[in-house]
Amino acid sequence: MQLPDENIEYNYQRVLAQPSEAWTPLTELQSQHFISLDRLDAIKKTAMDVRGVVGAERELLNPPAKLRPLQSGFIDLPQKLLDQFKRKQDASEVGKVIRISNRLREDVDRIVVLGTGGSYLGPKALFDALCHSYHNEMPAKLRMGKPRMYFEGNNVDNDPLQDLFELLENTCVDPDLTDERWGIIVASRSGETLETATSYRAVKMEAAKFYGQKSPMLKRVIVPITGAKSKLRDLCKAEGYADEDILSIPDEVGGRYSVFTPIGLLPAATMGLDIRAMLLGAATMTRRFLEEPFDRNPVLQYASVNYLMAEELKKPTRVTAVWSRKLEAVGWWYDQLLSESLGKTNRGPTPYTVVNTRDLHSRGQQHQDGHRDKMINNLLVRTVAHPAVMIGMADRNEDDLNQFSRKGLPDLMDAAHKGMTEAYAEVARPTADILLPALTEHTIGQLLQMLMLATVVEGRLMGINPYGKPGVEAYKSNMTKHLKAIPNLPKGEVRDAAKGA
Ligand code: PA5
Repeated sequence: MQLPDENIEYNYQRVLAQPSEAWTPLTELQSQHFISLDRLDAIKKTAMDVRGVVGAERELLNPPAKLRPLQSGFIDLPQKLLDQFKRKQDASEVGKVIRISNRLREDVDRIVVLGTGGSYLGPKALFDALCHSYHNEMPAKLRMGKPRMYFEGNNVDNDPLQDLFELLENTCVDPDLTDERWGIIVASRSGETLETATSYRAVKMEAAKFYGQKSPMLKRVIVPITGAKSKLRDLCKAEGYADEDILSIPDEVGGRYSVFTPIGLLPAATMGLDIRAMLLGAATMTRRFLEEPFDRNPVLQYASVNYLMAEELKKPTRVTAVWSRKLEAVGWWYDQLLSESLGKTNRGPTPYTVVNTRDLHSRGQQHQDGHRDKMINNLLVRTVAHPAVMIGMADRNEDDLNQFSRKGLPDLMDAAHKGMTEAYAEVARPTADILLPALTEHTIGQLLQMLMLATVVEGRLMGINPYGKPGVEAYKSNMTKHLKAIPNLPKGEVRDAAKGA
């Protein structure tokens, strides 16, 4: 099922300073803000060496202290899962994910996915990128058995959660009707994250109200995903879950690198996505990373260009400019991946995501004219999934659009991208393009794996361990201290909404 014409590519030609005999203001700016061909040649060699190091790390069973934590299991995971599926079919991890997702799709019409960080952003990115933009609003017949999906558990934000309960209480009344039944996928690798744990407790209580405290349905429609040892696993086992009813995240895969574990795969399969095509895309990217030379290796190209921009050309702000709203959550997913992986020891790029053309009307000004601290990576999909919305002829032409009547929205998008990159290039503002031939499970699999691998390579180029997140512990222990200090309300009393905290 290899689909070579679906390979994604990284085009970074525009960030290269072109050699020129004559001095011009632009060549001067380019020499300051673009990558020289000599520097590119030198980094190619370093990047290939780092690739060797990252490849070798996969084999380390007992890594030396300076490499810990080492969670490189995500690199080979997609291929391992595919191989295991081929050998064991239903008895494999993928087989189990597919079986549980089929059961959920038969049992319920709505799923609440609970998770934080990587356990939230992975599934959310897949849903937004690959499902219908108005999936939840579509009638059941058009959704073809794919449940509506709600994403929660990544915050301790009272009102949105109460809003969800209000929605469920008013639309799901009879647990005997499939159309009104709902379920939960709760994902926490550590099983300790307060946001997920507290919302799980609250959402589970809501489910118990709906199905009945002791209903056997509860265990059918609530699926936990967690690490081998975790409080969530302990809780589920105490509630009567057998080990095989709990999906597992391998120890050697970190939270924000977990999108191809059941954390991403179960919600994806439940929302009707082809998870094998996604894994195949990811496995293809790993193979390209490990085997291809620099000039055909988007992982090494992306990592090297962005490393040079951040570390040598003083552009620590990394903008992911997505040219489809469907990719905005992929941008958020990458923002988190990069922040937690490389934001260490007073270093690391600062990422953010914009959606174009929307944000050309806000950030665009700053990107063209503001601080020269940014590297912009466009994320572009070459083809649209639906027929183009045409501008069309109109009787009244006061808006002057008849001249474009035989062009469609994809043409406008294309023209805007060309116009923007040209305008930035004219003042030596660096931009490069990640190109997706189409938006499919296979290309998204490649893209997410490419960005995870590139983050690891960039970390190793910087001398920063891309795994672990020591910096988020401090706020957590302060939060627990302050939470303990807040007086408990008398039993049975609920905080008055108007009074607030
Ligand atoms: O990379 C990480 O470890 C984090 O982003 C986690 O995914 C996030 O904190 C959620 O953790 P957990 O899945 O353990 O609840």
